[in-house]
Amino acid sequence: MYGFKIKYIKSALLLLAVLIGLSVAWDNVSRGLFVIIVVSMVTLLAAAALARDTWRQGRQYDRGPFRPSRPSRVAARRQTPVGASPAAKRRARRRRIEEPDPEQTFTLAEEREAADIDEVFTSLNDRLVGLLPVKRKVDEIASLLLVDRVRQRFGLQAPRPNLHMCFTGDPGTGKTTVALQMADLLHRLGYLEKGHLVHAMRDDLIGEFIGHTAPKTKRILERAMGGVLFIDEAYYLYRPGDSKDYGQECIDILLQVMENDRDKLVVILAGYKDRMDVFFESNPGMSSRIAHHLDFAPYKLDELVAIGQAMLDDSAYYLSGEAEMAFREYLALRMAQPRFANARSVRNELERARLRHAHRLVAEPELSRSKDDLMRLEAADILASPLFSLSESLAAVEESARRP
Ligand SMILES: Nc1ncnc2c1ncn2[C@@H]1O[C@H](COP(=O)(O)OP(=O)(O)OP(=O)(O)O)[C@@H](O)[C@H]1O
Ligand SMILES: [Mg+2]
Repeated sequence: MYGFKIKYIKSALLLLAVLIGLSVAWDNVSRGLFVIIVVSMVTLLAAAALARDTWRQGRQYDRGPFRPSRPSRVAARRQTPVGASPAAKRRARRRRIEEPDPEQTFTLAEEREAADIDEVFTSLNDRLVGLLPVKRKVDEIASLLLVDRVRQRFGLQAPRPNLHMCFTGDPGTGKTTVALQMADLLHRLGYLEKGHLVHAMRDDLIGEFIGHTAPKTKRILERAMGGVLFIDEAYYLYRPGDSKDYGQECIDILLQVMENDRDKLVVILAGYKDRMDVFFESNPGMSSRIAHHLDFAPYKLDELVAIGQAMLDDSAYYLSGEAEMAFREYLALRMAQPRFANARSVRNELERARLRHAHRLVAEPELSRSKDDLMRLEAADILASPLFSLSESLAAVEESARRP
């Protein structure tokens, strides 16, 4: 209380001294000099006030309420390498200041909400049929990164894990779709700066002539920085026995970047499982840099039907009861055909069914149509596929071959 009063008495005396000084100056110096004296005084006072504030803030950081406890200070210091750059030291100092009290607690639900990752999981779980092992693996990776985020806040060691991955599976099993979700997830968790996905194949990375490959590969890598580089059919990067191939040059650059820039870029290699296995056998360096293998199993008939229904639902169509049976029959036949591409074949056939549906409606232009008519696909829209007539002809050929 006395400190408070003394502070104000001091200020009043200072003000009085300034006023006396000014009135003496007013009587004894020229007007120009008087103005200069006043301006200099105001500037000096402002500078002194600023310096005092800065000094107080510095003291606040060193002994304020956020001062970390001893063990966490030690941990933070341990995380700042000796000889670190001034920027790294500043970051470490900020980390020490922001560290919560070791007794403070967090729930991982709060952390999930802060990272805003539930949206990614909703889209992964609700929009993608099946793929349970893949979803579980994505969940595991996200859990590790989430816990690491909280550990970092407490100043605990949380080295960035290796996040390069390999997605294996047949065509149309959802590899690209999941890779897009993964890029988004890693971005939201703070492990990728931008979270975009750059899709590349052999021809995008490897040149035809000497000196072409390095610039091509580097250009793609530059585009992918801050996101995911998704290399489809990655085994085509390597052609054993072809002495004129520049694939090895590309692989060497990739290996270097996957090691040195692993905090800026995630590489996902994709393709058929058996061919990827052979590729890894011939390229152990690449194999050792891949931390997560996700296998996308081919879809079963029921899953394909469910995928089709979900796709139709998204675009406000549906299958009548008979159309669903016809579609199931169609898929059973299509699965045995060459170039069957799982969910992509489903999408393609449904596109064709929509064409036939529209054509059927337009063929009778005078009939009045309800909203339901515009949404409902009928068995005829599926059964018109040439696959049915083809299978009938094949069955007839087989039957005649069996007859003596
Ligand atoms: N489980 C699923 N549920 C719903 N739709 C799916 C599912 N899997 C794939 N799709 C859809 O099928 C289509 C093909 O999927 P995607 O391109 O991800 O497959 P892919 O494995 O990358 O194929 P490819 O190896 O031929 O490149 C996409 O339209 C995708 O949305
Ligand atoms: Mg793909």
